[in-house]
Amino acid sequence: MRRKIVVGNWKMNKTNEETKVFVKEFEGIAKSLLERKIIVGIAPTYLSLATAVKGSKKLLIASQNVHFKENGAYTGEVSVPMLKELKVKWVIVGHSERRQYFNETNETCNLKLKALVTGGLNPIYCVGETLKEFEDGLTKEVIKNQLVEGLKDIEASAVKSFVIAYEPVWSIGTGKNASKEIAEDICAYIRSIIRKLYSKAISERVLIQYGGSVKPENVKEYLGQTNIDGALVGGASLKVDSFKTLLENI
Ligand code: 13P
Repeated sequence: MRRKIVVGNWKMNKTNEETKVFVKEFEGIAKSLLERKIIVGIAPTYLSLATAVKGSKKLLIASQNVHFKENGAYTGEVSVPMLKELKVKWVIVGHSERRQYFNETNETCNLKLKALVTGGLNPIYCVGETLKEFEDGLTKEVIKNQLVEGLKDIEASAVKSFVIAYEPVWSIGTGKNASKEIAEDICAYIRSIIRKLYSKAISERVLIQYGGSVKPENVKEYLGQTNIDGALVGGASLKVDSFKTLLENI
């Protein structure tokens, strides 16, 4: 059986001090969920990563982004060796907000994924269609391109420990979550693409999350789907109470 993985993506929220307080609250629940093979994590801003890593033994700590170069004249960017120094082991790549506001493309995602593989870090690679693409019936085509181009030239031995997050853009922060049937259909489709690109064995190992208006009330129905191994949670991960309830409801 595949493990489950639920990660709170904090986006541009929470100070260092707030991170410290939050992390303390979640050690206990993260430990007990780990015993049930459910990994719980958070992705705070760069500025709070060191605090999160230091304050937690059981939570998975992920960066929200990374640059693909190791160093150089890239004002405002952070590299794989810098994250490794902080003992960060996971990185979100290609979140739709980065694709939308910061011009990330499948090609830059591919460079970032390769940099993570080279550096020995684990990605959570985000894919998902916009509302227009969804309405035009292009969801699968978009997802396929994001996978084929994003994973180009990446070895099976690396991909087997990737997490892929399906986040339909129209469901992010809108309260309009995709139905469990849509989410399961697309997550199954993602697994079928991995099977074609790699192998059945690899496709069965890769963890696939759903993200987009995941709340305490709906988390269980997503995680109960055959091809959904977890959730990437935005808004509902920001308050101690709602994230705790969400985790308790799994
Ligand atoms: P919401 O849960 O706020 O819709 O955000 C989802 C998301 O973007 C997680 O990466």
